[in-house]
Amino acid sequence: MEIIRVNNYQKMSEKACALLTDVIKTKKNPVLGLATGSTPEGLYQQLIEQYSNGELSFKNTTTFNLDEYVGLEKNDPNSYYYYMYEKLFKHIDIPTDQANLPSGVGNDLEKVCQDYEQKISQAGNVDIQVLGIGLNGHIGFNEPGTPFSSRTHIVDLDESTREANARFFNSINDVPTKAITMGINSIMNSKQIVLLVSGEKKKDAVARLVNGEISESFPASILKQHGNVVLIADEAALGNV
Ligand code: F6R
Repeated sequence: MEIIRVNNYQKMSEKACALLTDVIKTKKNPVLGLATGSTPEGLYQQLIEQYSNGELSFKNTTTFNLDEYVGLEKNDPNSYYYYMYEKLFKHIDIPTDQANLPSGVGNDLEKVCQDYEQKISQAGNVDIQVLGIGLNGHIGFNEPGTPFSSRTHIVDLDESTREANARFFNSINDVPTKAITMGINSIMNSKQIVLLVSGEKKKDAVARLVNGEISESFPASILKQHGNVVLIADEAALGNV
């Protein structure tokens, strides 16, 4: 795992943007794997800027997001669809039908999971996957204990994850208890992975990732077995690692 140490959040976002831009410009039909949360917001702003300056087009790009809450409609301000639309999709020229998130509503969520996997492989798999990391080492919504062999599936969210995400909701009671997430194996199928980490509160997670053993009790640890992973982290998150 290559580690890129940067000064701050802005630099992390710029580095990540450069990696994605490279894929978007060089691939005929680039496939991006995207994440939500606080960490990639700066990256999305950078991408929007590049598009607005006429340096980038997303017309041939397909995206697959990592996850979605179960039970939230697309137009719910807390759904990840809404987040992606507001923070990226509505500002760029990506065709709507090329921007994919698993649907968290419907009668047959198992089928949603299978169809999502199929769609990713039909697109030729993800060229570059953006990841954040949870305080407990989760990637996507793959909480500790998730099998490394997992594909897109429905999960019960950890209480710690619900608490961490409660900041976006009126109260913790409104945070869904379930989500759909790409599995760990689905993520590992990406050709390249960019893990973004910023801020002191992620310091312990980064130290455990870099120095700890590979174990299902710390999902992100599997990334060390991927041949093409870049960890872009700022000083605050890296500490003395
Ligand atoms: C979001 C996701 C999560 C976040 C992680 C970090 O799609 O899959 O794994 O990347 O919870 O969240 P932030 O960036 O808010 O610290």
